[in-house]
Amino acid sequence: MLVLDQRKLPFEEEWVELKGAGEAATAIREMVVRGAPLIGVVAALGLAAEALRLEAHSLEEFLAGVRRASDILKSSRPTAYNLFWAVDRVVRRVSRARTVEEGRRAAVEEALSIMREDVEANMRIGQYGAEFIGDGDTVLTHCNAGALATAGYGTALGVVRAAVEQGKAVKVIATETRPFLQGARLTVFELKKDGIPVTLIPDSAVGYVIEKGLVDEVVVGADRVFLSGHVINKVGTYPIAAVAGRHGVPFYVAAPTSTIDPKGEAEEAVIELRGAEEVRRVMGKPITLPDVDVINPAFDLTPPDLVSAIITERGVAGPPYPESLSRLLEL
Ligand code: MRU
Repeated sequence: MLVLDQRKLPFEEEWVELKGAGEAATAIREMVVRGAPLIGVVAALGLAAEALRLEAHSLEEFLAGVRRASDILKSSRPTAYNLFWAVDRVVRRVSRARTVEEGRRAAVEEALSIMREDVEANMRIGQYGAEFIGDGDTVLTHCNAGALATAGYGTALGVVRAAVEQGKAVKVIATETRPFLQGARLTVFELKKDGIPVTLIPDSAVGYVIEKGLVDEVVVGADRVFLSGHVINKVGTYPIAAVAGRHGVPFYVAAPTSTIDPKGEAEEAVIELRGAEEVRRVMGKPITLPDVDVINPAFDLTPPDLVSAIITERGVAGPPYPESLSRLLEL
């Protein structure tokens, strides 16, 4: 499989080849690819590629190899629920095979379905979400929840795209998103490509733009949503939700149901802690003393009382979330 190396954007568009589960896991861990839905899609395709090349003399040997590869993929990053959802889905499908050849085919079919369904889900999320966006509105978004973070179209940026396709004039305010700069590098890149007006702000200017009345609504993506309505997303999302709530600005989360963890509890959420060098440096250049202590959480947890609605491909969930999300998931 070929993936666009997101570490190099927006300055270089370089595609890299991932040959199997090990290379897919490394690409996810090192953030060559990132964004919860895309992580799921790449993991599924990585597992399918592994299933195609696994040497096995029996079905049992083949299934053991697929399970080993799935464990490698699941250990790449801990937070995005889509990763576990996608890998388990491929493993479940492969486990029903009666021969090795059937198993290889099943893995490829399931991974490709996951990829196609993700684009369809995003387009439906866009249709539901565009209802909340008025003509002339300015939407603040955080991180990159766009085409680059998914198999295509995007979740939060899918909502913006759908509103624009409906003929609404929509402007976007994008946060830089330190330390990996997904907003500055990726959101700006893809919105500029689509001709959607975008203004970049430092993360620390969120309070300023919201207090000044420059934002009509916030729309962000998610890495894991709990049935309680707690939302894990890129670190910095929680303070945005808090400031939006303080000023009565709606805070929407756009995410496919593959991001909703039906069994987990917010209290036990695993927030990935990344290396200190990501904070000590910007684009490889040191910005502080080399031995300073660093805390570098990749995500934070926003409580449900700050979330105005969760927009999924199956419809919009509002508070109380345990009821509305369970209904959407048909639990
Ligand atoms: O660390 P990242 O870049 O993988 O984090 C991505 C985010 O937090 C996104 O907002 C989230 O995955 C939603 S992407 C549609």
